[in-house]
Amino acid sequence: MSDSDENEGDEAVGDGDGGEPTAIGVKLGSTRTVIAIPDGDGGLRTVKTLTCLATYEDVITGEERVLYGEEAATEYPDRVQYTLRSGLPEDESGAELTATFFEEVVGANDVPTDSAVVYAIPTIDNERGLENLQSVIEGSAIGEALIRSYPESLCGSVPALGDDLEAVEDIFVTVNLGSTNLEASAYRRGEQLVPFTTGAVTGNEVDRMIANYVEEETQGRVNIDNTTAREYKEEHADFVDFEPFTDVIQQPGGGSHEFTIERSVMDAVDEYVDEAVDEVANAFLPELANDHIKVYQLALDRPIVLTGGMACIPGIVAEFEERLSEELQRDVEAVAPDQPELSAAVGAQRIAQRLVDADAY
Ligand SMILES: Nc1ncnc2c1ncn2[C@@H]1O[C@H](COP(=O)(O)OP(=O)(O)O)[C@@H](O)[C@H]1O
Ligand SMILES: [Mg+2]
Repeated sequence: MSDSDENEGDEAVGDGDGGEPTAIGVKLGSTRTVIAIPDGDGGLRTVKTLTCLATYEDVITGEERVLYGEEAATEYPDRVQYTLRSGLPEDESGAELTATFFEEVVGANDVPTDSAVVYAIPTIDNERGLENLQSVIEGSAIGEALIRSYPESLCGSVPALGDDLEAVEDIFVTVNLGSTNLEASAYRRGEQLVPFTTGAVTGNEVDRMIANYVEEETQGRVNIDNTTAREYKEEHADFVDFEPFTDVIQQPGGGSHEFTIERSVMDAVDEYVDEAVDEVANAFLPELANDHIKVYQLALDRPIVLTGGMACIPGIVAEFEERLSEELQRDVEAVAPDQPELSAAVGAQRIAQRLVDADAY
């Protein structure tokens, strides 16, 4: 055996000695994918990217090249593909595209392969889609030491309820405000009770409403696509101090048209909060009360945890709290983690770290 072979062997042993696998949290979302990785200084670095990719041909070699995330969305709007558009990979080709996307993200961001990875998984009653997601997860290069999945709404609640894993010892209700679904659940020491999902109240639907309202507000002069509507929402929606904003479109015959949006964005998010409160108060909570009355009572005396990207809208937590209290005719409190769009991955990372510390790999 040559020296170099021995050295390689030593290195492998050295890695083992040098310690534990890296604990990583991943959330593969319909709009964005987030990965939380220890930064080596006791903190976390997070990778956040749109869940999309575009391919193009290398003009020199003719090989197929892959671009992902914001770059793919801005440079190739004509053929960018959102691989988890409906929340989960619907079929084999969706799973393959998602795997390609994830491989690119993992490679480009130096996500360690010698890792214990916890994935935050949506609560959707779609066995096929979940199996496809599982195949993406298992086929990926990361998670050599361990791969686990936990519900996204539990992972997302973790940073809202303490600096460690207090959420897993707690009883609470949580509502995830995502792009393709609204999910609500109660958790009892980590056990998910009465999982509830509806595709009727969603961030994507808000984007469609904004696009329609913009057309109305501009008397039909302005048509925006759903991506632009999403950007308006993410940049301008604000229940505390919304400011009207202007934008410019190029007109087909040449020239440009400047317009101001005063109502379209806030009308849409305002309806969204009403609908979310309605689903929680009149569909989810009665089911919880019916199946687990004690848990219902305990949980409503505690803050309701709002997670998911739509919880980023300034003031939405207070609005939700106020309107839900009114609807239930009792005072309830609502809270959100500091960065709701990152919290599922951050919570998943803490679970992964706990598993590593417990030598569960
Ligand atoms: N800063 C923000 N302000 C308003 N909406 C946001 C913000 N960030 C994300 N969102 C919205 O949240 C939704 C995505 O939430 P997320 O929990 O990531 O969903 P999913 O798990 O469905 O991918 C999208 O509708 C997105 O536009
Ligand atoms: Mg989600």
